Amino acid sequence: MSRSRRDFLRSLGIGAAAGAAIQWPLQGGSTAYAFQSARNPQSDGYIHLDSNENAYGPSPKVADAIRSATGLVNRYTFLKYNEVTERIANFHKVKPEQVLFGCGSTELLRVAACAFLGKGRQLVEAWPTFEAIDEYARSLGAGTIRVPLNRGFVHDLDGMLTRAKSSTGLVYICNPNNPTATIAPRQDIESFIAKLPAATHVVIDEAYHHYAKVSGMYSSFIERPLEDERVIVTRTFSKAYGLAGLRLGYAIAAPQAINQMRNFLTKSTLNAIMAEVVGVALDDADGVELAIKRNRDDRQEFFNQAMERMLMPIDSHTNFVMTNTQHSAEEVIAHFHHHKILVGRHFPPLDTYIRVSLGTPDEMTAFWQTWDMIPWSKKFIHH
Ligand SMILES: Cc1ncc(COP(=O)(O)O)c(C=O)c1O
Repeated sequence: MSRSRRDFLRSLGIGAAAGAAIQWPLQGGSTAYAFQSARNPQSDGYIHLDSNENAYGPSPKVADAIRSATGLVNRYTFLKYNEVTERIANFHKVKPEQVLFGCGSTELLRVAACAFLGKGRQLVEAWPTFEAIDEYARSLGAGTIRVPLNRGFVHDLDGMLTRAKSSTGLVYICNPNNPTATIAPRQDIESFIAKLPAATHVVIDEAYHHYAKVSGMYSSFIERPLEDERVIVTRTFSKAYGLAGLRLGYAIAAPQAINQMRNFLTKSTLNAIMAEVVGVALDDADGVELAIKRNRDDRQEFFNQAMERMLMPIDSHTNFVMTNTQHSAEEVIAHFHHHKILVGRHFPPLDTYIRVSLGTPDEMTAFWQTWDMIPWSKKFIHH
């Protein structure tokens, strides 16, 4: 190991163990090192590049609001429901009847499945995509029709359309898509929805909205809505806002669809901290802007590092990157795990790809140094 790398690992508190010989394939033994980011320590000693969180946490304004809300945690939030609904409605310039919030956007995916799926109905979705709704659909006894992404790793909307029939209760479009970080073009989604069977609802999951640049290719279906009562858009505070642990997400849709979904919502999931923080987070445009800009820089740096190593990541519109390793994803994931770094799981059929959530610069340095320990990894050396 070069001196500078050893010094660097030491400065991270990773220590000498990382300098030991690396086994490939893994043969037990312990070369693991512990890393803790100063800002966001993980109690399990792993660097978490696996769940597409915001590694930097919430903005200073939001962090202050969280601290001041701690005195309220002995109380239920029954009286806060209307206020939170109105805050979200005002922010998006929609009516309160068009808003439903829950325990993370995952809960909205669950209630959409409950409202529009069941035995004899099907969910049509791209594959691979974010899986929660697929799991809920199956637990409800609905069929799941997984349509492979196209060669550009984008939703094959024509393919999905041919699979949609009158018994298709729901179509799920994750845009940008997790795990590929790709965007389905706005125009294509619009003409797809126009051709769907009349009773088929569509969930557009915009969890990563903030990281996608608004363009002719991409715009939110909340900000530029369709006049279509079947469209449900979901959003979350877990990504750009840096609040994954506080569990709040919401759906915007026509009042009729919202009412159908509300029937299945878990009662009283709003936590007392988030009840106070929602408004502050939504109003803190500068905080969100900073998170977006920081992510853009971190993403660019990831691509720079990837190029030096002759890797070919899929163009990313999110806070994570899916990259082809040209080797078994399972083995690469195990290598990182062995070195106390968690990356995304294996996403078949993308058997040579790994999904890496963007961490802080120190975390990403540790990621690339661990990458460079793989015997077959290559790196251009600049002279
Ligand atoms: C596409 C997508 N939708 C929804 C979620 C769930 O987010 P939440 O924390 O709001 O439940 C995730 C989380 O990773 C996601 O990737």
